[in-house]
Amino acid sequence: MAHSGNGNNSLDADREVCVEVSNLWKVFGHEPERVLDDPELRAATKEVVLTKAGCIIALRDVSFNVHKGEFFVLMGLSGSGKSTLIRCIIRLADPTAGSVFINAEDICAFDEERLAEVRRHTTGMVFQHFGLLPHRSVLDNVAYGLKIRGVLREERYEKARACIEKVGLKGWEGYLPSSLSGGMQQRVGIARALAGDPEILLLDEPFSGLDPLIRRQMQDELLELQVEIQKTILFVTHDLHEALKVGDRIAIMRDGEIIQTGTPEDVVINPSDSYVRQFVQDASPTKVLTARTVMEQPPVLLYSWQGPKAALQILRDANVDSAFVVARKARILGQVTVEGLVALIRKRDTFLKDALNPDIQTCHADSILDDLVPLVASTRYPVAVIDEDNRFLGEVYVSTIIANMIQEQGPEEDEEAVEEAQDGLAEGQEDTEENAKALEDGPSEGAEEA
Ligand SMILES: Nc1ncnc2c1ncn2[C@@H]1O[C@H](COP(=O)(O)OP(=O)(O)O)[C@@H](O)[C@H]1O
Ligand SMILES: [Mg+2]
Repeated sequence: MAHSGNGNNSLDADREVCVEVSNLWKVFGHEPERVLDDPELRAATKEVVLTKAGCIIALRDVSFNVHKGEFFVLMGLSGSGKSTLIRCIIRLADPTAGSVFINAEDICAFDEERLAEVRRHTTGMVFQHFGLLPHRSVLDNVAYGLKIRGVLREERYEKARACIEKVGLKGWEGYLPSSLSGGMQQRVGIARALAGDPEILLLDEPFSGLDPLIRRQMQDELLELQVEIQKTILFVTHDLHEALKVGDRIAIMRDGEIIQTGTPEDVVINPSDSYVRQFVQDASPTKVLTARTVMEQPPVLLYSWQGPKAALQILRDANVDSAFVVARKARILGQVTVEGLVALIRKRDTFLKDALNPDIQTCHADSILDDLVPLVASTRYPVAVIDEDNRFLGEVYVSTIIANMIQEQGPEEDEEAVEEAQDGLAEGQEDTEENAKALEDGPSEGAEEA
């Protein structure tokens, strides 16, 4: 998968931090500071705070870092605070407490002018409901942000055309949004966000309004695009499968809090509590587990300079039929079998490489198990796991993959979490109208400036 190479690097503490959110609170309502000044209210549930203080806690002490070039996902049920969080990051909503740093600059200390600057130059936003200007062509929609910035006509059209081509819409420049499908309209939305060449892309449920097939296609396209553009991406979704597929790391939100941050693998293998466990229970391990996680060290590894007789002895001692052969620095050459070695010895050939079967199945350490299925199906030997330099790292057995395909069913103890999840969903439904409103004022803010 295009993005999987990033997966482990994102854990690297040395990587440059692009967005840093610390102890962020957002309370909606009259005199929200009252809630934060009162230790009892600070610790109270959303419902209690609403009843006692008439305020809504949308974000509660949220902290996380996003690294440069990282694909970071905020995942949670509707109403969990995802949109508020993303809006606070570019101060479309003002945090009640806490701090947001973008490239080590304190966004909360910025005046309106500098904020507008950040929104136009550093960040690009994509909304669920596209937010396109209905009476303007695709080209004008994409070029719109550049126009506001005062970029000259020729240059902005040139840039817009390049972005339209990037999202696969070449030839559609002259059409109105209404003549495009939902998926195509969202490609326009992405092109518009890219047009200003922002460093950070903020996408708030960009694919939630699309049907599942188009949605999967859009996810693939975005991942491919990311390989090319290498932006820092903050991507919001309520869909776990989407989160697991696209994210280098995922932060799971509930009731305004981040309850777990980790790679897709971390989240599936080590859910932080019963709520997360409930969420990830249906996730297919073969879509998130990588070869690196499940590979094993072989009982025997042969070296190209060993003689056939020694090799045969080693295989027999270990009671195995075959083994991988590596050269210096563990570079993989192929594999030999007991039969092959016996034939070689009969011919009085003393070179192990003459018995090599170079036709082996290999995969990279970051490959997900799903992608290994066709490989293990086409060989009766294990699949060799290698790195970029062809070095042997370990092997994966067909039995391991099958075992992971049989999904584990969690115990019934989590009824509470199920109920909570269902409550959340019901609550989310009531929210949607409000959310739509909140989202809408993003692009229209720009419209007002025109
Ligand atoms: N402008 C607002 N005024 C009052 N409450 C709001 C406002 N915007 C969001 N909320 C509330 O904050 C909580 C988080 O909402 P939101 O960030 O939209 O969640 P999500 O994007 O995860 O669905 C919800 O309870 C929502 O009702
Ligand atoms: Mg939202």
